[in-house]
Amino acid sequence: MTQLMNAVILTGFGGPEKLVYTQVPKPIPKQGEVLIKVGACSVNNTDINTRTGWYAAEDSFQDILQDTKVNDSNNSACWAQSGIEFPRIQGADIVGQVVEIGLDVDPKLISQRVIVDSWIRDETLDDYQYIGSELNGGFAEYTVVPATNVYPINSSLSDIELATFPCSYSTAENMLTKGRISAADMVVVMGASGGVGSALIQLSKIRGAKVIAIVGANKEAFAKDLGADYVYQRDQQLASNLDQHQITVALDVVGGDYFNLLLKTLEPRGRYVSCGAIGNPMVSLDLRNLIYKDLEMIGATRLEPDVFQRLVGYIETVLLKPLVAKVFNLSEMKEAQKFFQSKLFFGKVVINT
Ligand SMILES: NC(=O)c1ccc[n+]([C@@H]2O[C@H](COP(=O)([O-])OP(=O)(O)OC[C@H]3O[C@@H](n4cnc5c(N)ncnc54)[C@H](OP(=O)(O)O)[C@@H]3O)[C@@H](O)[C@H]2O)c1
Repeated sequence: MTQLMNAVILTGFGGPEKLVYTQVPKPIPKQGEVLIKVGACSVNNTDINTRTGWYAAEDSFQDILQDTKVNDSNNSACWAQSGIEFPRIQGADIVGQVVEIGLDVDPKLISQRVIVDSWIRDETLDDYQYIGSELNGGFAEYTVVPATNVYPINSSLSDIELATFPCSYSTAENMLTKGRISAADMVVVMGASGGVGSALIQLSKIRGAKVIAIVGANKEAFAKDLGADYVYQRDQQLASNLDQHQITVALDVVGGDYFNLLLKTLEPRGRYVSCGAIGNPMVSLDLRNLIYKDLEMIGATRLEPDVFQRLVGYIETVLLKPLVAKVFNLSEMKEAQKFFQSKLFFGKVVINT
């Protein structure tokens, strides 16, 4: 008889009403896969972006926002600009325990507490997939993932605390890796109070860089506590505040109105690294800023296993502080996502499964 489990399924593009808390068949691990009893899984912007159709190229964007787009798994955009099939169980930040294994999986993994790297890699970059997007994720009691994506973890942190790390911190560590951040750098972090931004502060300090954090109103103390050397609000004085520093790298998750300011503040041969554009993905660029300062612009999404392995090492050696803003139950997913979208908090929103 088919066993059932509780899960939140995304039924199509649209608002929170597209999230349905229900029962679905408990998955069975196939060859090379493990079944995880999910302990906790954080909410990320990718969950919201996929639901609202934010990733879609311009021509279909309005249809998606007005909920008139006909679902087409070949043409409905996800982060990779390829198709997404509904219903989909989202959730990329999986922490839990391996309870069953498929064929050809090392039996030592059974009963291990694990943290999951969400990237399913392929030789072709176009074919990379993300757990919780092209494959079902962790907003459920159980999930199956390839055994190669699970990392046994030795930590005194709770599952809820550990679930704050995978997506945001691996993304941030990838930005620092691709941007070649070292102790010689003065980095500026835009969107520093968010999941990736707070990770960028902590991980840049591990590399010995000097950090300038830019935050919204009333969030300065938070960034300072995490180790930022200088903290500025994004306000009228921001340009003159940044002018006082010799900034070698801009680490951006916001884009929009601040994009040109960040380029202008960079020293010659500076690096601009972006993984997100929560402010606005459409920006205008004066190429003279890029050309005559010999700047480098770097996009950072797909990451290699060594980046995730390094993150696991930092967690196990207690170099990172987990930042839990609020915990919700699986049945409260709509409320959790509404709270997440308010941005009136520090750190991560975590689902206790
Ligand atoms: N490419 C990838 O693989 C990848 C991975 C993870 C995330 N991302 C993307 O990166 C972005 C940030 O992710 P996150 O998880 O850090 O998000 P988050 O936790 O929501 O934090 C984003 C921060 O940006 C600031 N912000 C929000 N709206 C803004 C606006 N309109 N103008 C200026 N600042 C604004 C806010 O901080 P303040 O109020 O303090 O300024 C907010 O805390 C998202 O777009 C996400 O989709 C991409």
